[in-house]
Amino acid sequence: MKKVIITIDGPAASGKEKIAKFISRKWRLNHLDSGILYRRIALILFSNKVNFSNIDQIKKKLKEIKEISFRNSKKIRTQKISKLSSKIAVHNFVRVFVNKLQYDFVNKNKNLKGFVIDGRDIGSVVFKKADLKLYIEVNPEIRAKRRYKQLIDSGEKSIYAQILRDIKLRDKQDKLRKHSPLLVPVGAHIINNNNTFAKTIKQIKVLIDKI
Ligand code: C5P
Repeated sequence: MKKVIITIDGPAASGKEKIAKFISRKWRLNHLDSGILYRRIALILFSNKVNFSNIDQIKKKLKEIKEISFRNSKKIRTQKISKLSSKIAVHNFVRVFVNKLQYDFVNKNKNLKGFVIDGRDIGSVVFKKADLKLYIEVNPEIRAKRRYKQLIDSGEKSIYAQILRDIKLRDKQDKLRKHSPLLVPVGAHIINNNNTFAKTIKQIKVLIDKI
């Protein structure tokens, strides 16, 4: 396979991360999870007691940030940070900041075989010319059930009904925002992830084998 960029977009808790990790391992591509970057920024702002309704405060803090970790961690996976990351993602200046981090990452690692990048606007805005674009679709109730199990397994107290509400709220925020809303990118293949992981991967393998 030539050097490629595969994008994966989809709503909250649709399984993008798990799918991207699998693709990254199987086809030896570098994985970049753009959601981590929004979450990292939300955590920095939250830890610095920035008022999330005050755009000037957010802009000021963003300018002070020298480096952002691309690493996942339990701290950025809480329900609080999920909500806050979605809240800051509506601002275009935040998106421009995150997109630059992604372009720098890809440019710095040009020697690698390729990338699998997941998020909400990767195939539609950030890497419009990707070799393969996937859009993951799953019913909100199934997403909430899976997220509930994940949180319980990781030791966080959670309530299914609350998770479902949060997921629906994040969907609304992500789909209705003015800048880079969540949508099926032009040329994307819709992947149904309502069933087993094996069934999902089967749909994807056929597409990757064609690149
Ligand atoms: O994918 P994840 O749930 O980790 O992303 C956290 C939040 O960051 C999302 O709810 C979304 O609002 C925002 N996001 C985004 N664009 C991306 C990735 C994430 O707006 N490319």
